[in-house]
Amino acid sequence: MTTFSNPRILDARARFEEIFGRAARHYGRAPARVELLGNHTDYNGGLVMAAAVDRETVVVGAPSANRTARVHAAHFGAIDEFPVDAIEPAAAGSWERYARGVVWALVEDYGPLTTGFDAVVVGDVPLGAGLSSSASLQAALALFLITAGAVPADLDQDAARMALARTLNRSENEFVGVGSGLLDQFSCLFGRRGHALYLDCDTLAHDRVPLGQPGPAIVVCDSRTSRRLADGKYDERRLECDRAAAGLRQFLGREAAALSAFTVADLEVAWDAIDPVPRQRARHVLTENERVRQGVRALGKGDLEEFGRLISASHASSRDDFENSSSALDLLIECAAAAPGFLGGKLSGAGWAGCTVNLVKAEQAGDFAASVRAEYHRKSGVEPLVHVCQSTAGAKGGNL
Ligand code: GLA
Repeated sequence: MTTFSNPRILDARARFEEIFGRAARHYGRAPARVELLGNHTDYNGGLVMAAAVDRETVVVGAPSANRTARVHAAHFGAIDEFPVDAIEPAAAGSWERYARGVVWALVEDYGPLTTGFDAVVVGDVPLGAGLSSSASLQAALALFLITAGAVPADLDQDAARMALARTLNRSENEFVGVGSGLLDQFSCLFGRRGHALYLDCDTLAHDRVPLGQPGPAIVVCDSRTSRRLADGKYDERRLECDRAAAGLRQFLGREAAALSAFTVADLEVAWDAIDPVPRQRARHVLTENERVRQGVRALGKGDLEEFGRLISASHASSRDDFENSSSALDLLIECAAAAPGFLGGKLSGAGWAGCTVNLVKAEQAGDFAASVRAEYHRKSGVEPLVHVCQSTAGAKGGNL
């Protein structure tokens, strides 16, 4: 589909004209992402595998003659207006806070915007479901601003994309106030059709790894349980991981900064010296790093069955050691494992609620979706939302 027949871009352009009474001139668009392996490893300096998937956020707009930003979010039917040179945080947890945070961080890292702007945001990334609608919004808005010339950045090189990913992660950490790692912004910016993404969050070494021909479907199953119930748990896990790393440093007499500098063998040696909860969290993180290494090797050999098994092993480790699953997510995985075409499945992102991500043989994706819907409904009384996705390209911008 070309940019000009993309229904979301057409929709956003029409809305922009209606709201601002002039034509939009530039766009930025960014996909959603799923985490395939490496759950809660990113902020531990560890390894992750992810994929950008074909649900997206689109921002269209135009520079304005003053130094004000006006951003309309179609999903919420609201406009946020703020001065681009003195940005105050909006309400905690709001989309406005994310949008302002993007501008704030771009100004911090790239200098003052050359111009104010008007923009409209539309998209079909399910919100709060573990597909990182927030990073998708961040990347789409940033790409729009860069394409519009408001921010001097050239994203042709991967190094510049990585710098932008870090800026957007800084926005989330320092402005929005969420202590997340680099996974989400990296994935939205580095996606490639037919590929999984690999990232070493310590060295920032990264790669795009082919998913094979024909590639598997990536099926996201939404339990329709809300993640807000789990607020605070993410930070609690970060602290537990920090305590494990401190214990390992002390016992092994090493300077290492992050938990992922240690191996599973290190943890075995130090096991009795570390408190039970932190060491269990560490076992998850360190075995996850190992599963990512094995996952890259499996994809390199075109072995999707093995890759799927690693994904399912990741879920078991999250459930048992990291304790960030829930009965709804476990039931979704149980239903998926019994459905046709299933290769592997795990919870997606932070966990505790929201979605699972499943690797499914492409030709059986329809049957898989129908089976999970019916079985989960029969067992829980709730009809899950099932999204059959494909891996897709990373964020891009352009002129209209
Ligand atoms: C959330 C965060 C990511 C990552 C995952 C867990 O999605 O935003 O940075 O920590 O949880 O792997």
